[in-house]
Amino acid sequence: MKKIKIGVIGAGAISKFHLEVAKAIEWIEIIAITSRTLSKAEELAKEFNIPHVSESLESLVSDHHPDGLMVLVSVNQMYNVARQAMEFGIPVFLEKPPAMLPDQAKELEELAQSKSILTQVGFNRRFYSIYKKGLDIIKKHGELRGLTVQGHERMWRIEKSLDDETRENWIFANSTHTIDLLNLFGGKTKTVNSLSKSVSPKFSSADQIAGLVEFESGAIGQYSAFWYSPGGWSATLYGDGVTVEFKPLEKGFVIDQNFETTEIVADPIDTQFKAGFYRQLEAFGNLIKSGESQWPAADIHEALRTMKLADQLR
Ligand SMILES: NC(=O)c1ccc[n+]([C@@H]2O[C@H](COP(=O)([O-])OP(=O)(O)OC[C@H]3O[C@@H](n4cnc5c(N)ncnc54)[C@H](OP(=O)(O)O)[C@@H]3O)[C@@H](O)[C@H]2O)c1
Repeated sequence: MKKIKIGVIGAGAISKFHLEVAKAIEWIEIIAITSRTLSKAEELAKEFNIPHVSESLESLVSDHHPDGLMVLVSVNQMYNVARQAMEFGIPVFLEKPPAMLPDQAKELEELAQSKSILTQVGFNRRFYSIYKKGLDIIKKHGELRGLTVQGHERMWRIEKSLDDETRENWIFANSTHTIDLLNLFGGKTKTVNSLSKSVSPKFSSADQIAGLVEFESGAIGQYSAFWYSPGGWSATLYGDGVTVEFKPLEKGFVIDQNFETTEIVADPIDTQFKAGFYRQLEAFGNLIKSGESQWPAADIHEALRTMKLADQLR
C-alpha cells in the first residue's frame, strides 16, 4: 500500500504524542520535520526515524512533496504558520486552537475555502472511544435531552508560565477543548446565554463562566468554568432513562434508572497512546486519501464554531 507522506512543523511537547501514533500506523509516514529551533527537530527525527529535517516549511514542501502537513507549533504562532502552510494547497492538520482569536480562525476558514484546502483541527477529545460508545447508548434509549460540561481551568498553577497574550486568550488557547464538547455532543447551538466575570485583575474577560445553551436539536445544556477553583473537566449526557457521565473526561460511566453504574471501557488505543490521538491521525490520513472529512473530526469550519461559542460564553 502506498504510504501517506506527512510533513511536521513544530518539535515541542505535543509533537511527540503525534509522532508516537504515526509510528504505529503503518500506512502513514512522517517524511520530514521542521521547527523554529532546528536542533529540537533533529532530536525528534533521530528518536522517531524521520528521514529528513528541513530548514524551513518551504524547503520541506519543495524537497519532500508531502501529501499533507501537520502544524504543531506554539499556540501564539498557530495563525501565522497555518496561513503559510495553507499556501501550498495540500491538506493541513492544525493543532487546537487553529488561531488565538476567532477573527483569525475566520480568516483561516476563508483561506481554506477560497483555496479548497482540506483541513482538520486537533480537538483530539472528539476521538475518545468512550464518547462514541456513550453517545450510542444515549441514542439506543431515545434522544439526548441535555448535557453539562464543566471546564474548570487550573489557572493558579499555570498563569506564571503563560505569556500575556496566551493568558488573556486562555479561553481560546485551552478552554476550547471543553467548549468543543458542547458542539460535539449537542450539535449546532440555537441560543447561548452566559453570566461571566473575572475575579483576577489579570483577565479583562472572564475567568468565571456560567453558560446556558439551547441546541438546534432541542437539547439544552450548561457550561461552567471557574478557573481558580479545583474542579477538573467533566461532561454529562442526559438521555431518556439513562445518564452517561465522563468524569474525568477520560473515564465513562452509564447510570441506569436503578442508579446502577457501569463503566464504559475505552479501546486499548486510547490508553496505549494519548487518548484520541490514534484515531485522530487515522482520520487525517483518511481525509488526505478520500478528500472527505468524517465525524467526529473537526475541520476549520467546525473549529470556528467552537471558537465563536467560546466568545459567546466569555
Ligand atoms: N491536543 C492537545 O491535547 C494539546 C495539548 C498541548 C498542546 N496542544 C497544542 O499544540 C500546540 C503546540 O503545543 P506544545 O505544548 O507542543 O508547545 P511547545 O512545547 O512550546 O512546542 C511548540 C513547538 O513549535 C515550534 N515553533 C514555534 N513557532 C514556530 C514557527 N513559527 N515555526 C516553526 N516552529 C515553531 C517551537 O519551537 P521552539 O523550540 O523554538 O520553541 C516548538 O518546537 C499548541 O497549539 C497547543 O495549543 C494541544
